[in-house]
Amino acid sequence: MKALIIGGGGREHAMAWKLAQSEKIEKVYAAPGNGGTAGEKNCENVDLLGRDPAEEEIQEALIRYVIKENIDLTVVGPEAPLAAGISDRFRAAGLAIVGPGAAAARLEASKAYAKGFMEKYGVRAARSLAFTEARGALEALKIHFAGGKTGGTPPLVIKADGLAAGKGVVIAADRALAEKTVVSFMEEKTLGDAGKKLLLEEFLNGPEVSVLAAVSCVPGKKGVILPFVSARDHKRRFDNDQGPNTGGMGAIAPVPDFNAALQEDFMEAILTPTLRGLEAEGFDYRGFIFFGLLIQNGKCYLLEYNVRLGDPETQAVLPLLDSDFGELCMAVENGALNDFRLNWKPGAVCAPVAVAAGYPGDYRKGDPIALNETAFAKTRAVLFAAGALRSSGGPAGTGLRSSGGRVLAVSAYGANAADARKKAYEALGALNFEGMDYRRDIGGKTS
Ligand code: AMP
Ligand code: GLY
Repeated sequence: MKALIIGGGGREHAMAWKLAQSEKIEKVYAAPGNGGTAGEKNCENVDLLGRDPAEEEIQEALIRYVIKENIDLTVVGPEAPLAAGISDRFRAAGLAIVGPGAAAARLEASKAYAKGFMEKYGVRAARSLAFTEARGALEALKIHFAGGKTGGTPPLVIKADGLAAGKGVVIAADRALAEKTVVSFMEEKTLGDAGKKLLLEEFLNGPEVSVLAAVSCVPGKKGVILPFVSARDHKRRFDNDQGPNTGGMGAIAPVPDFNAALQEDFMEAILTPTLRGLEAEGFDYRGFIFFGLLIQNGKCYLLEYNVRLGDPETQAVLPLLDSDFGELCMAVENGALNDFRLNWKPGAVCAPVAVAAGYPGDYRKGDPIALNETAFAKTRAVLFAAGALRSSGGPAGTGLRSSGGRVLAVSAYGANAADARKKAYEALGALNFEGMDYRRDIGGKTS
């Protein structure tokens, strides 16, 4: 079989790498892919339309390509094409695709929609109110902060409704910042249409856990959600969770403190009602789902759904998967997840991300990525490229050049979290590019 991965980040490199190992798959295409997928055995990048075409044009071009090349199965990495209806278009053209339709993708594309869904089906989550006008939101936050800064008032979480690439959530400790955020999202429209609607949400305090899962739910049939091992992203730029939010500075899997009691609580309070909701809404949800959890006082709360796998969680989770990823994707698509058994390797994976100087602000690019092959090989780590393209020239090394803020991740397997961590940092030590930086505490105490 031939498979196509849509996307070009570190997550998609990890998905392509795992798919290429499938007994069932002889060739993996990646559109657009990156320098990592270009160098992977049995993988090929597909550049159909050059830079920045409209999403619909890309989707139509992909459909023509899949038909022409007889590609059997397409797997979608990022949320934007899902929200724009790629799965509906593929299915209408009779093509097999792993990814929910646009109606279900609203669970990620609209936070207000997602909240409504959680309330309707009794999924445990932070309390929140949705606003479509700044006036109402300003009034509500005035009431929240009525006690003043010194009155022990907890912060308020302000969330833009739409997709905002990680910039849509502000935790406001005082009324001034809360007001400024509401005005900036709703009146100054700093996030465009994504900030037209917003949520004011109760602040929860505790460690975060990501649970990725495979979903097969088609109208009129009993659905299945199969959770993967837990993972933890570290979103802030600097050690000890300091500095600005980023797209993710590294992940570990599984999460040592996500114990059996919490897993059971997650199944009962979050996964089961979610599945009931997907069925009751009559969604065609054949794809992946990501539960973004926060643990407070021994209970799981759902912060968000993503309708895809996480980045960089995927780079930590897929290397632990001991089942055939190609077969899993087919079972998702065929609605045969009921009989599918997921096997996991014992041990742990630590996957820190190396970023370019300046990230998450303006950053350097175009630097060759050098590698000490002997030192890297000793760790048995895998390099997953993210913002990195294939290039010739430069020092001996990876054959890659940096092209994005999050440049690459290394995923190291170990008998336990500490061992995985040690190997991951040895592997990073064998890589180098100008201005390379990374957090030193991935998989450490903080979340
Ligand atoms: P989201 O885009 O919803 O995942 O939010 C981004 C980040 O904001 C989360 O990973 C949390 O760290 C934080 N966050 C979101 N909602 C809350 C909440 N209700 N209480 C505390 N922190 C939150
Ligand atoms: N790691 C968070 C995300 O993929 O959105």
